[in-house]
Amino acid sequence: MKHTLTACLLLALPACEKAAPAKPSPRADALPLAKEAAQETFALLSAELAAAIEQGGPVAAIPVCAERAGEITREVATRKKLGIVRLSDRPRNPAQEATGEDLAAIGDFRTEILAGRELRPSVKAAADQTTTVRLPIVINQPLCLQCHGNDNEVAAATREAIARSYPNDRARGYSLNDLRGIWKITLPAAPQP
Ligand code: HEC
Repeated sequence: MKHTLTACLLLALPACEKAAPAKPSPRADALPLAKEAAQETFALLSAELAAAIEQGGPVAAIPVCAERAGEITREVATRKKLGIVRLSDRPRNPAQEATGEDLAAIGDFRTEILAGRELRPSVKAAADQTTTVRLPIVINQPLCLQCHGNDNEVAAATREAIARSYPNDRARGYSLNDLRGIWKITLPAAPQP
């Protein structure tokens, strides 16, 4: 024992570091992969949303959204072999309520917004070598307010359609630039070279 300690001290850190359990480190490519997955899902969702709104207004888009949002997200996740969900502290779909670390990440983003700082994604590795990336979702265009804004922005017919599909909706009353929620992307361990 004494011997090992001396060896550690003499040889300095490398030997000691080896003995300690490896602290999980995030995959180097986590952020670009996560951003790509979120952007692709958003682009597919937006395209269907825009088409549905053009055809029948926001009222017609609600059921499309209700059915397709989950399907599109799962399709991208399967194809890219990662986990992807949208979560909120004030969800429309109760299955997408943020809890635990996800809720904490939302709180952190809000603190940054209040302080006027730029939002930086959260990237965390777990002991099983998976990496979780959390990206902020901001109400970034007036279109969002047609379904997530205040009563003067969400038409009465839209409010009724929302209430029919989502009786416990909490995702209204937002303004432009408000934090709406997060993308949570979970990546498996990096493939071995
Ligand atoms: C046509 C109405 C409509 C518009 C416009 C709209 N949304 Fe939504 N949004 C919905 C519906 C419906 C859901 C629930 C979908 C589901 O069940 O997964 C939802 C869910 C979400 C969620 C997932 C969390 C939750 O509350 O369930 C986020 C995040 C979100 N919307 C952000 C946005 C942003 C940002 C925009 C603007 C780019 C936007 N939405 C535009 C109707 C809309």
